[in-house]
Amino acid sequence: MGKLPSDIQSLMIKRSDFPAGFTWGVATSSFQIEGAGQQDGRGPSIWDTFCEEPDRIADQSNGLVACDHYNRLEADLDLIASLGVTAYRFSVAWSRVQPLGHGPWNEAGFAFYERLLVGLQKRGIEAYLTLYHWDLPQALQEQGGWNNREICQHFCDYACEVVRRFGDRVQTVCTHNEPWVVSILGHETGIFAPGIKDRKVAYQVGHHLLLSHGMALKAIRDMGFRKPLGIVLNQSPIYPASDAPEDVAKARLDDGIVVRWYMDPLFKGAYPADVLAWLGDDAPSVQAGDMALIAQPLDFMGVNYYTRNFSCASETWDAAKPGNPLTEMGWEIYPPGLTELLCRLHKDYTLPAIYITENGGAFKDPVVDGRVDDRDRVAYLHDHIQATLHAIEKGVDVRGYFVWSLMDNFEWASGYEKRFGIVHVDYTTLRRTPKQSALWYQSLLKG
Ligand code: FCB
Repeated sequence: MGKLPSDIQSLMIKRSDFPAGFTWGVATSSFQIEGAGQQDGRGPSIWDTFCEEPDRIADQSNGLVACDHYNRLEADLDLIASLGVTAYRFSVAWSRVQPLGHGPWNEAGFAFYERLLVGLQKRGIEAYLTLYHWDLPQALQEQGGWNNREICQHFCDYACEVVRRFGDRVQTVCTHNEPWVVSILGHETGIFAPGIKDRKVAYQVGHHLLLSHGMALKAIRDMGFRKPLGIVLNQSPIYPASDAPEDVAKARLDDGIVVRWYMDPLFKGAYPADVLAWLGDDAPSVQAGDMALIAQPLDFMGVNYYTRNFSCASETWDAAKPGNPLTEMGWEIYPPGLTELLCRLHKDYTLPAIYITENGGAFKDPVVDGRVDDRDRVAYLHDHIQATLHAIEKGVDVRGYFVWSLMDNFEWASGYEKRFGIVHVDYTTLRRTPKQSALWYQSLLKG
């Protein structure tokens, strides 16, 4: 892959400082990299539909080709292996294996994931499989999507079929990626698919996501599957913008909406009372037995961490205010927030094993003479891996870390304009070029 400049080399972390058996990985998701949108019987997903609507995606792009990972699987697996990672986190596109989201299975779709899993196994890389990373079959959306309670059973059937076929080949199974995003960005602000703007719907959707998670965990365990099962949440510590009581109260509520709304039901079997009171009539309808199902024991929890947040009662917070650098997403770079978040969760909940299932940054990444000298990303990853180590030293049981992302990809509403990869993708030729950060990660992993 080439040589690292000495100032990047100096940002080294010793792998041996981490507990034995610590998992080191890279992460992706189906819609963001696979492409092959109309190949081999894949059904459309809500993101295909969303991309067709004008002005939903910054560069008016879509996921039909993306990184064409579907057709470049073997080369991409070699690329993953060349990094020296022990694990690869990816998601299954529900509409590729079950085009309508219920009813017939698509064997060609399953064959792709079979090839992926066999390829990982051959290369000695563990598979961290996510069942739902936002690409809902469009046919289910037409029946109300996540707002229709019946979807929970469809999700459960899909989950069981994937585990029945692939359970032997995976290391862990995760139900949902970031239910907050699906609920709030997909159904309250509407900036993500399916683009609905209705707070009541958003919270009902959130409830059905959690319920489907619990139902799937129970059903998978009832099949006799004994490997680690979990869920991935996006989280960030939320600080008040000032000591003013209104800001402190707003920060507490925002923490309830982002962190406790998911953590409390999963670990304590109840939604937080303050958020329920704030929602009033928009609170979700919950049936008897739902909360017990949601609170199934978890073998692990994934934390996706990118930045911290501030809450201000009177105005929108400017992320540049604290004076720290921002990523291309406009997100403040604040590594200590990861340590703080993990320690706080450890204090407030009885946590299972924790994995940092996503962490990374979007940067400008110009290609100069065939190289991408992304030292800002190296610094970002270095500082967050250190922050993870600090949490471990403070007693949090963190078992692994995954860089978001293996390669540049379709960054949802930002299209292809925001690059998170440690490998550069030229979207004209689809050529992959490892950035300096990939070389840096490789030398961390290979010692
Ligand atoms: C997370 C998503 C992931 C990626 C990163 C930047 O919220 O899980 O797909 O888009 O953000």
